[in-house]
Amino acid sequence: MIHVTIDGMQMEVQEGTTILQAARGAGINIPTLCDLEGINDVGSCRVCVVEVEGREKLPTACNTPVEEGMVVQTMSERAVDARKMALNLLLSNHHRGCFSCPSNGACELQDLCYQYGVEESSFAGARKQIETPPVEGHPFLSYHPELCIHCERCVSTCAKATGREAITFRKTGMFGIINAPFGEDYKDTLCESCGNCAQNCPTGAITEKRKKKYRSWEVSRVLTTCPHCAVGCQMYLLVKDGKIVDVEAADGPSNHKLLCVKGRSASFDFVDSPRRIRTPLVKNKETGEFEEATWDEALDLVAEKFTDIRDSLGGDALAGFACSRSTNEDIYMLQKMVRTAFQSNNTDNCARV
Ligand code: FES
Repeated sequence: MIHVTIDGMQMEVQEGTTILQAARGAGINIPTLCDLEGINDVGSCRVCVVEVEGREKLPTACNTPVEEGMVVQTMSERAVDARKMALNLLLSNHHRGCFSCPSNGACELQDLCYQYGVEESSFAGARKQIETPPVEGHPFLSYHPELCIHCERCVSTCAKATGREAITFRKTGMFGIINAPFGEDYKDTLCESCGNCAQNCPTGAITEKRKKKYRSWEVSRVLTTCPHCAVGCQMYLLVKDGKIVDVEAADGPSNHKLLCVKGRSASFDFVDSPRRIRTPLVKNKETGEFEEATWDEALDLVAEKFTDIRDSLGGDALAGFACSRSTNEDIYMLQKMVRTAFQSNNTDNCARV
């Protein structure tokens, strides 16, 4: 164990703990931008700098491990000034059309600039830019280089959290460039369109295109379980004016703030689809056409047919396969029905294939 003092608070933490983790464990907030716990610790933004007694340079709290006897000040004048300068420099290379940015109101850079009173960059226009146009060929995702702060959260998310390595970072002289595979050729890349990079982008550089249809303050979040398979990923449905407009990954035990492409982009459009079947349909014997029926009519008909088969051919003539999109409770009820009503043990779940 290591003994450390942060903002006058003495604490004992495991060796290898970073200053940021130690501070957070004690309820002390240190701002971060590039840091993503367990995924990204490149230490590129420098907004988490703190003052450590006896050290001339200000270390980045996110990737500096604590040392025995360390005394840290998180809000000293030097640390706060350095943070403001870091934000000032980030803004120098950031297009500030916040009104038209889909992340307006949900931008971590915007929040920190507001918190630290940084409104303008003193270096605006002084820095040479590489003109890289927006990448918009993907149906769900877009990349706007002029909003990118090169924090590499997207790169690390794609490589370490989803294991794809579809987004890469390269250096051209003094410039860093993110290669986001969202062009017309996106199908030929390693990108699986999961959108985890967009959720972890702290600005509006990588976004889901549907984000343009709402502002963060207009939506309410409803925690639910993804319906697409039996993994049970937790997610929030974002609801505006009674309609689902987007999905965000929640920190569930099986998904840890990640979703696949189905969970993120195929979980809500069907809810209001005019093609959705909303009532049971029973085929009219005379016309051969399907006609709307009540649930009682449909269930009575199905029960009668199953009973006929069981009585004439025996229970083994019937089987019940549960859909893996069903809940455990529904799957339990299905096997119960097969065993008791069908009098058969022919029951399984399609997830096993
Ligand atoms: Fe520590 Fe970016 S959060 S350097």
